Amino acid sequence: MKRFETNAIRTQVERSQHREHAVPLYLTSSYVFNDAEQARALFAEEEEGNIYSRFTNPNAAEFEEKVSLMEGAESAFSTATGMAAVFASLAPFLKTGDHVVSSSSVFGNTHKVMTEVLPQWGITCTYADIRDYSSWEKAITKNTRILFIETPSNPALDIIDLKQLADLAHAHQALLVVDNCFATPYLQQPISLGADMTLHSGTKYFDGQGRVMGGVIAGKKKDIKTIKNFIKRTGASISPFNAWVLSKSLETLAVRMDRHCSNALRLAEYLQDHQAIESVTYPFLPSYPKYDLAKKQMKQGGGLVCFEITGGVERGRKFLDALQMISLTANLGDTRSIATHPASTTHSKLTAQERAKVYIPDGMIRISAGLEHIEDIIEDIEQALSRSK
Ligand SMILES: Cc1ncc(COP(=O)(O)O)c(C=O)c1O
Repeated sequence: MKRFETNAIRTQVERSQHREHAVPLYLTSSYVFNDAEQARALFAEEEEGNIYSRFTNPNAAEFEEKVSLMEGAESAFSTATGMAAVFASLAPFLKTGDHVVSSSSVFGNTHKVMTEVLPQWGITCTYADIRDYSSWEKAITKNTRILFIETPSNPALDIIDLKQLADLAHAHQALLVVDNCFATPYLQQPISLGADMTLHSGTKYFDGQGRVMGGVIAGKKKDIKTIKNFIKRTGASISPFNAWVLSKSLETLAVRMDRHCSNALRLAEYLQDHQAIESVTYPFLPSYPKYDLAKKQMKQGGGLVCFEITGGVERGRKFLDALQMISLTANLGDTRSIATHPASTTHSKLTAQERAKVYIPDGMIRISAGLEHIEDIIEDIEQALSRSK
């Protein structure tokens, strides 16, 4: 078996008769049948092969196989966006009367799926606290089918013991679904810790250059088959072009993550000594509350750093406006460093009370450390802190 970096580079669809080195882009919506018998056999699933790009496509298949190997899963299936992956990890496994336990520290849109979309079909959700394992035990009912978690969470960078949570889910015949977007499989492989499914917004570190949208879910063959049928029927398939970009980008995931992580750690160390900063959160800082678990569960601390600036919301906004190089944009995991203010953007749909409950103070700034020279990142933050006093 090849190692992580090699799988990311050498997993490739078959070359065409042109013997190209780089992977060709299969920009086609359908595939030609040799004859009527082959058309029948493909539709009857007696023969494996491409029929229509909403079902399968060689670029999507290559992307899926890579992610499956990188996550240590049996199989994977790709989707149009990360949110389509979140929804597809839930909807096909739930019916009216079922119950989900979700971490309350999840991406803003995932909250909406839990509290607005699923309840339309009589599926209920109870939130559990990522910082309090006992709240997960308490939230489980006889109808619980899925436990859903992001670790590290967006944006507060909280983590939970995945092995312990997987054991809890399985003791109640429930599935553990992990949004592994912030760590990527290079830093953390939830399936090896007992999770049933792991999912990604490919839009983040997988692309890594802020170009395309995409999502993917990895897990057991039988569960991925269920997801594949769900996507095939409901339509949130990935485009061949986006799958091609994402698969190509995965070739450099390991080297990019090494630099994202070293820049983020250095930035966190700089911020923790700064007098204008009230607190800094980064999983690989010794001051991080679950530092030992982070070291055990993750290979490095990730590319995101959160801090709370003295002076609250007003100072936070002034700080963002004073930045000269770091981008103000609603993404993360890009080569370019990005600053966001979750309270007024990604988590603005939550009330201030709801945000407080999920550990998002109004003055919190999230930095996605890019791949620029670390001294330039720090200099921009330094000048913005002094100009925003
Ligand atoms: C943790 C997490 N999960 C899922 C998503 C949704 O991904 P997408 O924007 O690709 O739909 C995001 C987007 O920010 C995210 O941060």
